[in-house]
Amino acid sequence: MERIAFFDARGYDRTYFDALAPRAGLEIRYLETRLTPETAVLARECAAVCAFVNDDLGEETLARLSEYGVRAAALRCAGYNNVDLRAAERYGIRVFRVPSYSPASVAEHAAALLLTLTRQTHRAFTRTRERNFSLEGLVGTNLENKTVGVVGTGRVGIRFAGMVRGFGAHVLACDPEPKWGAGLEYARLDELIRRSDVISLHCPLTPATYHLISRAAFHDMRDGVILINTSRGALIDSEALLDNVKSGKVGAAGLDVYEEEADVFYEDVSSRIMRDDTLNLLLSQPNVLVTGHQAFLTKEALRAIAETTVGNLRAFFDGGPTENELRAREGQTV
Ligand code: NAI
Repeated sequence: MERIAFFDARGYDRTYFDALAPRAGLEIRYLETRLTPETAVLARECAAVCAFVNDDLGEETLARLSEYGVRAAALRCAGYNNVDLRAAERYGIRVFRVPSYSPASVAEHAAALLLTLTRQTHRAFTRTRERNFSLEGLVGTNLENKTVGVVGTGRVGIRFAGMVRGFGAHVLACDPEPKWGAGLEYARLDELIRRSDVISLHCPLTPATYHLISRAAFHDMRDGVILINTSRGALIDSEALLDNVKSGKVGAAGLDVYEEEADVFYEDVSSRIMRDDTLNLLLSQPNVLVTGHQAFLTKEALRAIAETTVGNLRAFFDGGPTENELRAREGQTV
């Protein structure tokens, strides 16, 4: 049996990994703590670690993991902005990911955020539980005939585009690698920003896309624009978002991710003082809906994540083909 240190483990992870790991010859040590340089020691005597989006796989952590004999890191996610791939290579730690598990789950969550905000069902839910059936303040907006800007038409974005087209919206897309066959209208980001009634982000976080939605971008948006982000928090300048929500420029925002989410997301911090005033103020607005990075969280996606991760680890231990391996040179799968 190969021993795996499984960081940031949740009950729902266990359900799906326990069903597969023993049969694949993997013994999993579930750890609720996040992986950091300080907690890396918990992987002592493990051949590999299994990590998630907010685990720290920077140089210091990797150096310690290699000291403890760890030879592989299996990410249970698609994004890998939390991994120093060059350092991993230097320390002889091979890195794997799950490039795609259920793009539909993320796209459907983006659609759920959008429809909740356009029809205010989040506010109706709390009202009717208190037997308040007043409709004051619940006037919605149709998606039909609106322009929805889709930034990134990869696996998730293309599905989201299909969903909103189903509602009769016109999709304006932007992607350095357009999918010409999809019948979408493509434009540059600045044009998309100026023309869209709704903007939904589906591109990865890279140095080039950091604060893609900047203060200047907000300035150019349509009044009352609805912004949806299920990709990565740092695509948006959060301070600028807050200012534009307060001024009314942004009509509504649906955020599954947040720039500083690593400090709070995935945890119950309800009895702690939260010092992040940008998040505090965003959360206090009726037209801002925040979910705690749960777009991936469906049964189908969890099953697929477990299958691919167990497969990646088994292939690594068997010395077989490892198609989901990340390499430093191109920062991409091989
Ligand atoms: P993908 O790799 O299939 O597609 C990303 C697309 O973005 C590609 O077509 C790429 O060309 C495009 N792109 C790159 N730079 C761009 C730019 N500057 N402007 C516009 N487009 C650009 O990725 P996928 O599977 O569609 O996922 C999208 C994002 O969703 C991921 O990067 C990840 O950050 C996020 N995600 C969030 C989850 C959640 O639970 N909230 C779960 C899974 C993914």
